[in-house]
Amino acid sequence: MSINKRKMLVSSALPYANGSIHLGHLVEYIQTDIWVRFQKMQGHDCTYVCADDAHGTPIMLRAQNEGISPEELIARIDKEHRADFADFAIDFDNFHSTHSDENRELAEYIYTQLRDGGYIKTRTIKQAYDPEKEMFLPDRFIKGTCPKCGAEDQYGDNCEVCGATYSPTELKNPVSAVSGATPIEKESEHYFFELGAFDDMLRAWTHEEHMQPAIRHKLNEWLEGGLQDWDISRDAPYFGFEIPDAPNKYFYVWLDAPIGYLASFKNLCARRDDLDFDAYIKEGSDTEMYHFIGKDIAYFHTLFWPAMLTGAGFRKPSAVFCHGFLTVNGQKMSKSRGTFIQARTYLDHLNPEYLRYYFAAKLGSGIDDLDLNLDDFMARVNSDLVGKVVNIASRCAGFIKKKSAGQLSAECAEADLYNEFVAAGKNIAALYEQREFNHAIREIMALADRANQYIDEKKPWVLAKEDGNEKEIQDACSVGINLFRVLICYLKPVLPKMAAQSEQFLNIAGLQWSDIESPLLDHTINKFKPLMTRVEQEKIDALLADTQKLLAANKAPEPTKKTKGKSMEPIADQIEFDDFAKIDLRIAKIVKAEHVEGADKLLQLTLDIGDGTKNVFAGIKSAYSPEDLEGKLTVMVANLAPRKMRFGISEGMVLAAGPGGKDLFILNPDEGAQAGMRVK
Ligand code: MSP
Ligand code: ZN
Repeated sequence: MSINKRKMLVSSALPYANGSIHLGHLVEYIQTDIWVRFQKMQGHDCTYVCADDAHGTPIMLRAQNEGISPEELIARIDKEHRADFADFAIDFDNFHSTHSDENRELAEYIYTQLRDGGYIKTRTIKQAYDPEKEMFLPDRFIKGTCPKCGAEDQYGDNCEVCGATYSPTELKNPVSAVSGATPIEKESEHYFFELGAFDDMLRAWTHEEHMQPAIRHKLNEWLEGGLQDWDISRDAPYFGFEIPDAPNKYFYVWLDAPIGYLASFKNLCARRDDLDFDAYIKEGSDTEMYHFIGKDIAYFHTLFWPAMLTGAGFRKPSAVFCHGFLTVNGQKMSKSRGTFIQARTYLDHLNPEYLRYYFAAKLGSGIDDLDLNLDDFMARVNSDLVGKVVNIASRCAGFIKKKSAGQLSAECAEADLYNEFVAAGKNIAALYEQREFNHAIREIMALADRANQYIDEKKPWVLAKEDGNEKEIQDACSVGINLFRVLICYLKPVLPKMAAQSEQFLNIAGLQWSDIESPLLDHTINKFKPLMTRVEQEKIDALLADTQKLLAANKAPEPTKKTKGKSMEPIADQIEFDDFAKIDLRIAKIVKAEHVEGADKLLQLTLDIGDGTKNVFAGIKSAYSPEDLEGKLTVMVANLAPRKMRFGISEGMVLAAGPGGKDLFILNPDEGAQAGMRVK
């Protein structure tokens, strides 16, 4: 079959280089990978690029917290991401980084084109600034009390308790999440991209077939609301690229992130003679360019990105494909529910192709969220893949091996049935092309049912009981094996590993879509080995248990060298001698100890410190009953500012040492120690 060979450049969104890949991310990479593998099987020139999104404030701060450079951090995450993707069989043609020479050059070039085209303006704006850390604070790094409902500890842009959105200046008692300082307002000059200049172009572009209907509606709303200038600069300190003509100003991470698609492609073109960067990127190019993204980042890809490309004189995307979000057991992936499952944890327990199959079976072309229901996941994979598809091969392979020395019949005994399977491929291909993977899978499974039904009718195991049926058995099982081959071809974009094992078993070269037009005849197959085992409940349980463990470990602060293996209590930063000298440590006599109504850890202590008494609430109930304490001595911090607690005012701290629980030690009275003595 001769095909019209398309040249396509395809991307998935670039994952941030400050965290691990989780199952939510994988919806997108698996979706894109299936589509690309399908296009390649059709014989098209399809190139799949991605990269780590390495810039921005969170990455800069995370590196600082870990005491390493941002370059070291992104190098480590790059390795981790590559390994996760490889193990899920995400077959990028290139995986690069936005912190690369290609991306710097392209970002500078595009910016310069936009500037020279008159689309860049500067304006002085006021922004929250951390006076201690000496940096401007993105909204996410300001916390405070929600102005609407009064919930404490909310982010600067929205309240997780009541759902209100607001600007950080509206927060009550705002503090910098970086240093704890109260942010001040500070002016600075910013660079803006004049998006409104592309209003006509975007309106026209939106009305062509470049995005899904739901996204087009959103876009229309944004266009009707009026396009605002886009702030593309950030002040130092920032991990990113400096703006060429603006020292100490950096490109906002979202400016150079989509350019990273092109940078990754350019990096690949340098290694591949058959790929010409300019031919793909130039205005009016006859190649296709597709971006797969989550619906949360549609704004960047359907407004800013086509406008930037146009302003720079480049082509626009052929289409932007959005998908919905992953939920687990019906709810948003959540750390507290233990459903925030990382790619690596999954890989430690389960076959990645189970998940590829399950996502394919659920993914359509729309932007609906999709649910990973773990019971359904197990039932579906076991019944479809193990129970139906693999079963066809395993039911036929043994007879071919034993009864006809591995040789398939010279003629197809069921040409009509075989041709029916081949004919179904047209529709299945159209469904893959349209990203209606769930429908494609439904069609393929209906064929699998049909194949099993055929074998049920032929009953080779009954025929094998009598001599003289060799030809009939060989014919029936050859048909079965050939139907299996067609199914594997259709499933290959989803299950590349199982397809490779099947190709080995069938003793054939890598299947292309058009290979199945004629059946395998007079051909020797290899010994059958189990292609996939069943999903086991214990494995799923272990995955969830490990996820819980990981989440709990990540919640606790990293142990420092001093505490490794001992205690997970947070450790304060090192202090100077002067700080220590400020602490008034005294021996205190516990004159009274009482239970506190409603508190399960606290005891209320009255302490004699020589020149008066202090009231202190101490969390030592686990180790002592009040009656054991009266008359004993302890060390207290006598000059701690009084703190209002739920049960009253606490005027100091008592010191007790030990691992906690029952083992918290207090001093026994001794002739040498007396209430009021200073401890030095
Ligand atoms: N770095 C940006 C993208 C820049 S593209 C020029 C980013 N990174 S991300 O790591 O937060 O997300 C990467 C992709 O994964 C996005 O398309 C996002 O929508 C997708 N997903 C992240 N969590 C997801 C789910 N829970 N479910 C489905 N997709 C999800 O955004
Ligand atoms: Zn609120």
